[in-house]
Amino acid sequence: MIVYLNGSFIPHEQAVVPVEDRANNFGDGIYEVVSFADGCLFAFEEHMDRLRYSAREIQLDLPEDPSRYAAVAERLMTENSLAGYASLYMQISRGVAPRLHAFPAQARPTVYIAAKPGKYVPDEDREKGRPAVTLPDLRWGRCDIKSLNLLPNVLAKQAAAKAGAQDAILIRDGMAIEGAASNLFAVFNGTLVTHPKGPHILGGITRQHILRLAESLGIPCLEEPISAEAVWKADELFFSGTMLEIMPITKIDGKVAGGGRRGPVSARLQTGLHREMWGK
Ligand code: PDD
Repeated sequence: MIVYLNGSFIPHEQAVVPVEDRANNFGDGIYEVVSFADGCLFAFEEHMDRLRYSAREIQLDLPEDPSRYAAVAERLMTENSLAGYASLYMQISRGVAPRLHAFPAQARPTVYIAAKPGKYVPDEDREKGRPAVTLPDLRWGRCDIKSLNLLPNVLAKQAAAKAGAQDAILIRDGMAIEGAASNLFAVFNGTLVTHPKGPHILGGITRQHILRLAESLGIPCLEEPISAEAVWKADELFFSGTMLEIMPITKIDGKVAGGGRRGPVSARLQTGLHREMWGK
């Protein structure tokens, strides 16, 4: 596999970063995950806008305009013969410097980009949906930044896996706000509801596409907090994310939830999203 590291296209085994990279010592960096469908990047510029936002919020000067990485991504697709469905992982850290917490006076950001073949989730799996568990949200107060600090997310995913579920609904101040690596949507009497953008959730690109799609389909939408109790009254529930798209939640903490199956609103939105991504 060929990857991109600091301007060079090199074999994956040779992509080595010094141990004092700040990503390693502090998780001091940001990342993005973008999908390719039929060899085409999906919503790339939106992801780059979020990358610029994350960089600005952690005061990291990007070494170049990230729009440039579209060409890097295309080359990685070609070099690795990835024609169908794939994912692009991009990570930018503050660079290499002796381990002192405050920013180094001089450090060049480390830029790593890799494209990997993806396994497209078959529609039958989406129809069946997935179980989730509820867990307290242990993350910091700036979840709107796509930072490399993912320990609470890692712990939540692991706890979910241990409980036989794939994802967790994170609860903060009595509100079900998002998944450990996804946004959360609920449908109540035909109205689509999701937590408002702000410091406690990641402003998902898929979330934004779903809201736009819903509007174009005449589905009423509300960006409002969903209480942990209200989740049980939802007619439909789903997670959204770049590689997940729309994944219905059919059980929570071992009990049937969200109607126990993929509902009609989720199905319509998935069809629309698939069409946007694949052009068919
Ligand atoms: N996760 N919320 C969190 C906490 C996330 O980590 C993600 C994405 C999302 C959905 O965002 P988007 O629709 O832009 O993918 C919401 C990525 C894919 C990951 O960490 O692998």
